Amino acid sequence: MAQPLSRSVRGRYYRRTVLPEGYDLRALREDDAPALAATYVRNREHLAPWDPVRPEEFYTEAGQLASVRAKLASIEEGRSDTWLLHHGTEVVGQLNINNIIRGVLQSASIGYFVDRDHLGRGLATRLVEHAVRRAGELGLHRLEAGTIVDNLPSQGVLQRAGFVHYGTAERFLFIAGRWQDHHLYQRILNDHPAGEAVP
Ligand SMILES: CC(C)(COP(=O)(O)OP(=O)(O)OC[C@H]1O[C@@H](n2cnc3c(N)ncnc32)[C@H](O)[C@@H]1OP(=O)(O)O)[C@@H](O)C(=O)NCCC(=O)NCCS
Repeated sequence: MAQPLSRSVRGRYYRRTVLPEGYDLRALREDDAPALAATYVRNREHLAPWDPVRPEEFYTEAGQLASVRAKLASIEEGRSDTWLLHHGTEVVGQLNINNIIRGVLQSASIGYFVDRDHLGRGLATRLVEHAVRRAGELGLHRLEAGTIVDNLPSQGVLQRAGFVHYGTAERFLFIAGRWQDHHLYQRILNDHPAGEAVP
Protein backbone atom coordinates (compact mmCIF):
# COMPACT_ATOMS: atom_id res chain seq x y z
CA MET A 1 0.00 0.00 0.00
CA ALA A 2 1.52 3.33 -1.02
CA GLN A 3 2.19 5.84 1.73
CA PRO A 4 2.38 9.63 1.39
CA LEU A 5 5.92 10.85 0.75
CA SER A 6 7.60 12.65 3.58
CA ARG A 7 8.59 16.29 3.16
CA SER A 8 12.31 15.41 3.00
CA VAL A 9 11.73 12.82 0.28
CA ARG A 10 9.74 15.35 -1.77
CA GLY A 11 12.62 17.82 -1.37
CA ARG A 12 15.22 15.31 -2.63
CA TYR A 13 13.20 14.79 -5.79
CA TYR A 14 14.24 18.09 -7.32
CA ARG A 15 17.85 18.10 -6.14
CA ARG A 16 20.56 17.29 -8.70
CA THR A 17 22.32 13.97 -8.30
CA VAL A 18 25.50 14.60 -6.29
CA LEU A 19 28.26 11.99 -6.60
CA PRO A 20 31.41 11.44 -4.51
CA GLU A 21 34.58 12.97 -6.05
CA GLY A 22 35.99 11.05 -9.02
CA TYR A 23 32.63 9.66 -10.18
CA ASP A 24 30.67 10.79 -13.20
CA LEU A 25 27.20 9.76 -14.40
CA ARG A 26 26.61 9.86 -18.16
CA ALA A 27 23.97 8.67 -20.59
CA LEU A 28 24.87 5.44 -22.42
CA ARG A 29 26.90 5.82 -25.65
CA GLU A 30 27.92 3.32 -28.32
CA ASP A 31 31.64 3.70 -27.50
CA ASP A 32 30.97 2.55 -23.90
CA ALA A 33 30.84 -1.09 -25.12
CA PRO A 34 34.51 -2.05 -24.49
CA ALA A 35 34.50 -0.63 -20.93
CA LEU A 36 31.17 -2.35 -20.26
CA ALA A 37 32.56 -5.72 -21.39
CA ALA A 38 35.47 -5.28 -18.93
CA THR A 39 32.99 -4.33 -16.17
CA TYR A 40 30.89 -7.45 -16.71
CA VAL A 41 33.99 -9.71 -16.77
CA ARG A 42 35.30 -8.11 -13.55
CA ASN A 43 31.89 -8.38 -11.84
CA ARG A 44 30.76 -11.78 -13.13
CA GLU A 45 30.74 -13.44 -9.69
CA HIS A 46 29.42 -10.34 -7.90
CA LEU A 47 26.39 -10.09 -10.20
CA ALA A 48 25.71 -13.82 -10.75
CA PRO A 49 23.18 -14.29 -7.88
CA TRP A 50 21.10 -11.28 -9.01
CA ASP A 51 21.21 -11.47 -12.82
CA PRO A 52 19.84 -13.80 -15.49
CA VAL A 53 22.35 -16.39 -16.70
CA ARG A 54 24.21 -14.67 -19.54
CA PRO A 55 25.53 -16.28 -22.74
CA GLU A 56 29.35 -16.20 -23.05
CA GLU A 57 29.08 -13.58 -25.81
CA PHE A 58 27.67 -11.12 -23.28
CA TYR A 59 31.16 -10.83 -21.73
CA THR A 60 32.83 -9.83 -25.01
CA GLU A 61 33.19 -6.39 -26.65
CA ALA A 62 31.13 -7.61 -29.63
CA GLY A 63 28.39 -8.86 -27.31
CA GLN A 64 28.32 -5.58 -25.42
CA LEU A 65 28.26 -3.57 -28.65
CA ALA A 66 25.15 -5.51 -29.73
CA SER A 67 23.58 -4.98 -26.30
CA VAL A 68 24.40 -1.23 -26.26
CA ARG A 69 22.98 -0.78 -29.77
CA ALA A 70 19.76 -2.54 -28.76
CA LYS A 71 19.51 -0.30 -25.68
CA LEU A 72 20.16 2.87 -27.71
CA ALA A 73 17.38 1.84 -30.15
CA SER A 74 15.02 1.29 -27.22
CA ILE A 75 15.96 4.71 -25.75
CA GLU A 76 15.33 6.32 -29.15
CA GLU A 77 11.84 4.77 -29.16
CA GLY A 78 11.11 6.12 -25.66
CA ARG A 79 10.90 2.66 -24.09
CA SER A 80 13.90 2.93 -21.73
CA ASP A 81 16.77 5.10 -20.48
CA THR A 82 20.28 3.94 -19.46
CA TRP A 83 22.99 5.74 -17.50
CA LEU A 84 26.53 4.63 -16.68
CA LEU A 85 28.61 5.50 -13.64
CA HIS A 86 32.22 6.19 -14.66
CA HIS A 87 35.35 6.24 -12.50
CA GLY A 88 38.46 7.12 -14.53
CA THR A 89 38.39 4.88 -17.61
CA GLU A 90 36.19 2.27 -15.95
CA VAL A 91 32.42 1.84 -15.91
CA VAL A 92 31.59 1.07 -12.25
CA GLY A 93 27.82 1.12 -12.24
CA GLN A 94 24.72 1.09 -14.39
CA LEU A 95 21.16 2.35 -14.07
CA ASN A 96 18.41 1.13 -16.39
CA ILE A 97 14.96 2.65 -16.52
CA ASN A 98 13.12 -0.15 -18.33
CA ASN A 99 9.63 -0.92 -19.57
CA ILE A 100 8.44 2.68 -19.85
CA ILE A 101 4.68 2.41 -20.26
CA ARG A 102 2.56 5.46 -21.07
CA GLY A 103 -1.24 5.79 -21.25
CA VAL A 104 -2.95 5.67 -17.87
CA LEU A 105 0.00 3.88 -16.19
CA GLN A 106 2.95 6.29 -16.85
CA SER A 107 5.34 3.95 -15.09
CA ALA A 108 8.73 2.25 -15.51
CA SER A 109 10.85 -0.31 -13.69
CA ILE A 110 14.44 0.26 -12.64
CA GLY A 111 17.48 -1.99 -12.45
CA TYR A 112 20.99 -1.13 -11.26
CA PHE A 113 24.33 -2.44 -10.08
CA VAL A 114 27.55 -1.07 -8.65
CA ASP A 115 31.03 -2.56 -9.25
CA ARG A 116 32.24 -4.92 -6.50
CA ASP A 117 35.19 -2.57 -5.70
CA HIS A 118 32.98 0.50 -5.22
CA LEU A 119 30.28 -0.75 -2.83
CA GLY A 120 29.13 0.96 0.38
CA ARG A 121 29.81 4.52 -0.79
CA GLY A 122 26.21 5.47 -1.41
CA LEU A 123 26.60 5.10 -5.19
CA ALA A 124 23.57 2.86 -5.80
CA THR A 125 21.46 5.22 -3.70
CA ARG A 126 22.65 8.09 -5.94
CA LEU A 127 21.77 6.03 -9.05
CA VAL A 128 18.23 5.44 -7.80
CA GLU A 129 17.83 9.12 -6.88
CA HIS A 130 18.94 9.92 -10.42
CA ALA A 131 16.29 7.52 -11.76
CA VAL A 132 13.66 9.46 -9.80
CA ARG A 133 14.83 12.77 -11.28
CA ARG A 134 14.97 11.36 -14.84
CA ALA A 135 11.54 9.80 -14.45
CA GLY A 136 10.21 13.25 -13.52
CA GLU A 137 11.83 14.73 -16.65
CA LEU A 138 10.24 11.94 -18.70
CA GLY A 139 6.82 12.84 -17.30
CA LEU A 140 6.32 9.53 -15.49
CA HIS A 141 4.00 9.13 -12.51
CA ARG A 142 5.62 6.11 -10.86
CA LEU A 143 8.77 3.99 -10.69
CA GLU A 144 8.91 0.40 -9.53
CA ALA A 145 11.65 -2.08 -8.64
CA GLY A 146 11.68 -5.75 -7.68
CA THR A 147 14.40 -7.29 -5.54
CA ILE A 148 15.02 -10.96 -4.73
CA VAL A 149 13.70 -11.38 -1.18
CA ASP A 150 17.16 -11.82 0.36
CA ASN A 151 18.80 -8.89 -1.50
CA LEU A 152 18.91 -6.74 1.63
CA PRO A 153 21.47 -4.20 0.29
CA SER A 154 19.21 -3.40 -2.66
CA GLN A 155 16.16 -3.10 -0.40
CA GLY A 156 18.12 -0.64 1.77
CA VAL A 157 18.99 1.40 -1.32
CA LEU A 158 15.35 1.59 -2.43
CA GLN A 159 14.09 2.57 1.02
CA ARG A 160 16.71 5.32 1.31
CA ALA A 161 15.56 6.63 -2.08
CA GLY A 162 11.95 6.92 -0.90
CA PHE A 163 10.52 3.69 -2.35
CA VAL A 164 7.92 1.73 -0.35
CA HIS A 165 7.37 -2.02 -0.23
CA TYR A 166 3.92 -2.76 -1.68
CA GLY A 167 3.93 -6.52 -2.10
CA THR A 168 5.77 -9.76 -2.69
CA ALA A 169 5.46 -11.72 -5.91
CA GLU A 170 6.10 -15.46 -5.88
CA ARG A 171 8.35 -16.93 -8.58
CA PHE A 172 8.41 -13.49 -10.25
CA LEU A 173 11.61 -13.39 -12.36
CA PHE A 174 13.91 -16.07 -13.82
CA ILE A 175 17.17 -15.07 -12.14
CA ALA A 176 20.35 -17.13 -11.77
CA GLY A 177 18.65 -20.09 -13.41
CA ARG A 178 15.40 -20.30 -11.41
CA TRP A 179 12.10 -18.47 -10.80
CA GLN A 180 12.67 -16.38 -7.68
CA ASP A 181 10.32 -14.63 -5.24
CA HIS A 182 10.69 -10.83 -5.28
CA HIS A 183 9.77 -7.98 -2.98
CA LEU A 184 8.10 -5.22 -5.01
CA TYR A 185 8.79 -1.54 -4.33
CA GLN A 186 7.36 1.61 -5.84
CA ARG A 187 7.72 5.33 -5.59
CA ILE A 188 4.86 7.58 -6.67
CA LEU A 189 6.50 10.67 -8.15
CA ASN A 190 3.68 13.17 -8.59
CA ASP A 191 -0.03 13.44 -9.23
CA HIS A 192 0.19 15.38 -12.45
CA PRO A 193 -2.30 14.38 -15.15
CA ALA A 194 -1.05 11.37 -17.17
CA GLY A 195 1.68 12.31 -19.66
CA GLU A 196 2.36 15.84 -18.41
CA ALA A 197 6.10 16.58 -17.83
CA VAL A 198 7.04 17.69 -14.31
CA PRO A 199 8.20 21.32 -14.33
C1 LIG B 1 22.76 -3.64 -4.21
C2 LIG B 1 23.88 -2.74 -4.69
C3 LIG B 1 23.42 -2.04 -5.97
C4 LIG B 1 24.20 -1.71 -3.61
O1 LIG B 1 25.22 -0.83 -4.11
P1 LIG B 1 25.99 0.20 -3.15
O2 LIG B 1 26.57 1.25 -4.02
O3 LIG B 1 26.91 -0.54 -2.28
O4 LIG B 1 24.78 0.81 -2.32
P2 LIG B 1 24.85 2.06 -1.32
O5 LIG B 1 26.28 2.35 -0.98
O6 LIG B 1 24.03 3.13 -1.88
O7 LIG B 1 24.13 1.46 -0.07
C5 LIG B 1 24.68 0.27 0.45
C6 LIG B 1 25.26 0.51 1.83
O8 LIG B 1 26.26 1.50 1.87
C7 LIG B 1 26.00 2.40 2.95
N1 LIG B 1 26.40 3.75 2.55
C8 LIG B 1 25.65 4.68 1.94
N2 LIG B 1 26.36 5.80 1.76
C9 LIG B 1 27.60 5.55 2.25
C10 LIG B 1 28.80 6.30 2.33
N3 LIG B 1 28.85 7.57 1.88
N4 LIG B 1 29.87 5.72 2.88
C11 LIG B 1 29.82 4.44 3.33
N5 LIG B 1 28.71 3.69 3.28
C12 LIG B 1 27.62 4.25 2.75
C13 LIG B 1 24.54 2.34 3.14
O9 LIG B 1 24.19 2.67 4.48
C14 LIG B 1 24.22 0.91 2.81
O10 LIG B 1 24.36 0.10 3.94
P3 LIG B 1 23.11 -0.65 4.54
O11 LIG B 1 22.22 -1.09 3.40
O12 LIG B 1 23.74 -1.78 5.24
O13 LIG B 1 22.44 0.36 5.44
C15 LIG B 1 25.17 -3.55 -4.99
O14 LIG B 1 25.47 -4.35 -3.88
C16 LIG B 1 25.07 -4.43 -6.23
O15 LIG B 1 25.41 -3.99 -7.32
N6 LIG B 1 24.61 -5.68 -6.05
C17 LIG B 1 24.51 -6.63 -7.15
C18 LIG B 1 23.43 -6.23 -8.15
C19 LIG B 1 22.10 -5.95 -7.50
O16 LIG B 1 21.74 -6.55 -6.51
N7 LIG B 1 21.35 -5.02 -8.10
C20 LIG B 1 20.02 -4.69 -7.64
C21 LIG B 1 19.04 -5.67 -8.15
S1 LIG B 1 17.41 -5.29 -7.54
